[in-house]
Amino acid sequence: MTQQPLHIPVMKDQIIEQLSPVIERSENPRYFDGTFGRGGHLREILRQFPKLTAVAVDQDLEAIEYGRKEFSTEIQEGRLLIEHLNFANFTEEKFGKFDAMLVDLGVSSPQLDEGRRGFSFYHDGPLDMRMDATKGMTAAELIATASEEELNEIFHQLGEIQKPYRVTRAIVHDREKEAFLTTRQLASLVERVEGWRRKGFHPATQYFMALRLSVNRELEVVQNSMIPLIHGLTARGRLAVLTFHSLEDRIVKNLFKEQTELGTPLFKKVIQPEWAEQKKNPRSRSAKLRIFERSGNEPPTY
Ligand SMILES: C[S@@+](CC[C@H](N)C(=O)[O-])C[C@H]1O[C@@H](n2cnc3c(N)ncnc32)[C@H](O)[C@@H]1O
Repeated sequence: MTQQPLHIPVMKDQIIEQLSPVIERSENPRYFDGTFGRGGHLREILRQFPKLTAVAVDQDLEAIEYGRKEFSTEIQEGRLLIEHLNFANFTEEKFGKFDAMLVDLGVSSPQLDEGRRGFSFYHDGPLDMRMDATKGMTAAELIATASEEELNEIFHQLGEIQKPYRVTRAIVHDREKEAFLTTRQLASLVERVEGWRRKGFHPATQYFMALRLSVNRELEVVQNSMIPLIHGLTARGRLAVLTFHSLEDRIVKNLFKEQTELGTPLFKKVIQPEWAEQKKNPRSRSAKLRIFERSGNEPPTY
């Protein structure tokens, strides 16, 4: 019996197709994975390109612990370095240059599916939502301390909810009596106030997404990290960025377009998953892939 992977890597074939020319032309190809997760993309890239060495980081310690165990052979062989790091802290000085890079944004399936990580409205757990559970404010702390206005702004801007006011008002009212400490408490409040409007679409979906983006400062990280990553590319090296949120995609699209000094986006249009993948893996449905190619002369191949 084949085991279901913990996280199904999204758009794996399309990403490898775009990265393979720059990996294949290099004598000693180097690959940087900014979002290791459960190593789905990394595993396949290491398998397909035997000469390649890689550096993989993740801000989630559980992902890193998993990686150190499951990739122990590659680590011992000196093919792979795994580090607990937010890719926003990537510097070329520390890690060197790479022919190919991947940033696969958002959360992994284990993060979403484990109630105790606090991302899920289906599995009860502490209202946490931090990808890096070693630091920063939890969603519970955010809910407890943000003003009504701040909460409205988070839900409106990050969750793209037109009118979050009734939910926000209820949160601010209810938190006076009892703190919001669990995902179920918050999900129940949204269910009560909004009701189920669309079959199969939990009314708390966008509220949870907005809180997650805010707790992990996800848009800020994308905004600030693309240029340092591009600086870490070799001449004609490629950076692939996979987003799952329209605001993130917009930031990536604009940043790529503006970097005319450093290189160009490989395609004007965004690449999306094939229909077959969307059907097989519903989590891939909102995925958008963009590739940036660094300018410069390709190194000669001998
Ligand atoms: C969608 S999953 C990546 C899945 C991976 N490509 C795979 O195939 O298994 C996203 C992962 O990136 C991590 N992550 C998200 N933002 C990050 C950041 N700014 N720095 C480092 N890791 C991050 C999350 O903790 C999560 O483990």
